[in-house]
Amino acid sequence: MENNWYNINVDVSEAIKTGWKFPEIKNKTDQVWRFHSSDILDPDWVSRTQKLLGFEWDVVMVFWKTKWWAPKLAHIDMYDAGGAAQFGLNFIIGGAGSEMRWYQPPAEIVESPRTPAGTRHCLLPIKDLTQIDCYPVGNDKLTLVRVGIPHEIFTGAQDRWCISLRTRHPIGTTWEYIEKLLSDKNLLIEKE
Ligand SMILES: [Fe+2]
Repeated sequence: MENNWYNINVDVSEAIKTGWKFPEIKNKTDQVWRFHSSDILDPDWVSRTQKLLGFEWDVVMVFWKTKWWAPKLAHIDMYDAGGAAQFGLNFIIGGAGSEMRWYQPPAEIVESPRTPAGTRHCLLPIKDLTQIDCYPVGNDKLTLVRVGIPHEIFTGAQDRWCISLRTRHPIGTTWEYIEKLLSDKNLLIEKE
């Protein structure tokens, strides 16, 4: 089985800037927003982590899901310019008992109507997919997650905020590239 996630040795307890307010939830089940990194991330944390990781933060996707969220559709994230995006660096606020699940990729990626945040994606019915991995993305460290294959979130008894940091790598940067980059910097926390 391929690896679809890694815990990264980067603390996130000071990642969010003082005074940032969570957006207002208008949808009862799930919602997505897109921010520029400077709107939400603490400037000191940004410069510290950019130096450590050797790349720049770009947009930040914020996801909210209600408790006991059991979706029927998985999705593949896509770039604004089209094509599958490959990775995000996530951390979670709340969301006890929730997990991210990954599924075998389809033969081809067909774009669906845009998300309410205006981002592009490909939606796929979970009933037609084979699950290949799952992981409860954590609260205190960044987790590198694969978003270029079908994935979705299932929550437990608590609502879940996910802060998903996207990087300023060129379109087409592969999953294998980011795995190697963070492994070479000794930032991947070994799996048990
Ligand atoms: Fe996603």
